[in-house]
Amino acid sequence: MRWSLRSVPIAVLVIILVTLWAVHKDQRGLLDDTAVAAGLPPDFVPDLRRGEELYHLGGCLNCHAGAGDLQSVPAGGTPLHSVVGTFYPPNITPDPATGIGAWSNAEFINAMRQGRAPDGRHYYAAFPYPYYVMTSVADLVHLKAHLDSFSPVTNHTPPHMLDLPFSVRLGNLYWKALFHEPVEFVAAPDQSPEWNLGNAIVNGLGHCGMCHTPKGILFNDDRDRLFAGAPALDNHDTAAPRLAGLDPIKTLNGLDEWSGAISENSPMHAITLAFSQHLPPEYAQAVAIYLADPFP
Ligand code: HEC
Ligand code: HEC
Repeated sequence: MRWSLRSVPIAVLVIILVTLWAVHKDQRGLLDDTAVAAGLPPDFVPDLRRGEELYHLGGCLNCHAGAGDLQSVPAGGTPLHSVVGTFYPPNITPDPATGIGAWSNAEFINAMRQGRAPDGRHYYAAFPYPYYVMTSVADLVHLKAHLDSFSPVTNHTPPHMLDLPFSVRLGNLYWKALFHEPVEFVAAPDQSPEWNLGNAIVNGLGHCGMCHTPKGILFNDDRDRLFAGAPALDNHDTAAPRLAGLDPIKTLNGLDEWSGAISENSPMHAITLAFSQHLPPEYAQAVAIYLADPFP
């Protein structure tokens, strides 16, 4: 009894120290307006075409589509089922009240790279920021400009319906401290430009690992088994097959809507459509070159 009473202050102290460390680490990944400006070339102008390409590459609409009539705009609210409950991805149209119209570029970048909301909330990794983090400041400003070009839609999305303990949002702070690094993409000098482009797509905005890399007990990517194939994040969906070391023909077929390799009700289908309808063919080729490499 005396032992357990005495251990209470120690436990409290440990929690406080871990929290301070987690907050400090999280803070390091954040940018302010000055840092964003410093990350852009002096003559920078947002490029809406590039922004649109990044929007397709990141599959934003796959999760942020509105319901019914709003299917083709990222007004949010369509349920995203997962093994921990149902997420309702928010409205990312430029509506100032219910969307992200009032956000600065820095606030958008912090959400996309550090999983941090302007009001300090920590996002769930169901929002693929652990992958999006690789995207450059310039590209994220192009992407934000594209989102800002949508007509604002007023749409309040429902709160997520998650099981305990996942419903405790603060848990994401600790999750990030353990598994999230504010890394930016760095090209490997000993690899071809195509391989590097493939690397940036697959590990960055393409967030292929979200479905294709097996997860650890806290839904972190098992870094020792990258792209080794994984069961679906939602129990009802199809498992995602192994991509590591994949024959380039298979990769190209998987990203080509006409090949018939991917069925229409697969979660992969939207990604296939993005590559075959909205992205230059060099992107699929680069992905195929990158994935063909021997992985562990
Ligand atoms: C796999 C599904 C998924 C994809 C793909 C996705 N998101 Fe999200 N996004 C979410 C979820 C879920 C949330 C809510 C996270 C939370 O509440 O913690 C979210 C939140 C956000 C937020 C925060 C909005 C707010 O009001 O707080 C922004 C901004 C955002 N996403 C932008 C994007 C952009 C831009 C893309 C495409 C590059 C994208 N998302 C792709 C699932 C996704
Ligand atoms: C939302 C989950 C999800 C994401 C994200 C995702 N995939 Fe898939 N992928 C799947 C599933 C599920 C299948 C199995 C499809 C089927 O059997 O219909 C699949 C199949 C494939 C195949 C076919 C493999 C084969 O052996 O025939 C390729 C290639 C592929 N994905 C590449 C990618 C690439 C590249 C990315 C990133 C740009 C990606 N996937 C992102 C879920 C996903």
